[in-house]
Amino acid sequence: MPFNAVSDITRSIAPHYIPFRPPRARVRSLSLALVLASQFSATKTSSMSDTRRFKATDLFEFNNINLDSLTETFNISFYLSYMSRWPNLCVMVNEDRQTPDHPSPMGYIMGKSEGKDKDWHTHVTAITVAPSCRQLGIARKLMDYLERAGDADKAYFVDLFVRPSNLLAVNMYKRLGYSVYRRVLGYYSNPHGPDEDSFDMRKALSRDVNQQSIRKNGEQFTCKPEDTMF
Ligand SMILES: CC(C)(COP(=O)(O)OP(=O)(O)OC[C@H]1O[C@@H](n2cnc3c(N)ncnc32)[C@H](O)[C@@H]1OP(=O)(O)O)[C@@H](O)C(=O)NCCC(=O)NCCS
Repeated sequence: MPFNAVSDITRSIAPHYIPFRPPRARVRSLSLALVLASQFSATKTSSMSDTRRFKATDLFEFNNINLDSLTETFNISFYLSYMSRWPNLCVMVNEDRQTPDHPSPMGYIMGKSEGKDKDWHTHVTAITVAPSCRQLGIARKLMDYLERAGDADKAYFVDLFVRPSNLLAVNMYKRLGYSVYRRVLGYYSNPHGPDEDSFDMRKALSRDVNQQSIRKNGEQFTCKPEDTMF
């Protein structure tokens, strides 16, 4: 089943505009909606999937995605704060069964914007796809979406954390143009054993003309978890 690119992202962004966001952010969201409209109208094929903003009620439906050892499940306030602070960076893909009351979640991405000056960037907090929906290009589309959102937001780069042992994901990110920026020692705490390091992977966006946000041989650079706070 081919992944059908985001079809109603503009409908989902504009009408659900969060009133307390500052005017500058509103303009960013609307311009992003226009960027996305042109992108996704070009790739729309049949109506086999429906991509829209992540909603609070998705938390009742996403167990088929989150019941996976490599997918973090956070507390409810974590998801709600993302949905309210970065609504345009939290996207859910549902199987389109023509029954909107009973969506079948296929995958989602959650991101945020943070940092100052040259560190202003888009961060991928979570990306996951239901086991039954993998290798259909969903993650690639979601990552592409977030990168476009970062470009529209004038971010210098996109970054993410991934376990070095999650080779599938590390290789996927490399294939998508990401490289290791540094190894974060003991980033993933483990109450039953040794903590696990993380790769901090980055991809420079178009604003970073000189590619200063990335570097070669990033695996050789280490830092502590507290050094990754922006
Ligand atoms: C990692 C994950 C998000 C990939 O999602 P996906 O929708 O299956 O990925 P896509 O179909 O978009 O594939 C993107 C690229 O990754 C590669 N890839 C994905 N799954 C692969 C697999 N099982 N074997 C080899 N390559 C694979 C593909 O080659 C593809 O590149 P290509 O299109 O150029 O061939 C998914 O496996 C997942 O949810 N894993 C558990 C959660 C997780 O690890 N998240 C990342 C945490 S940082």
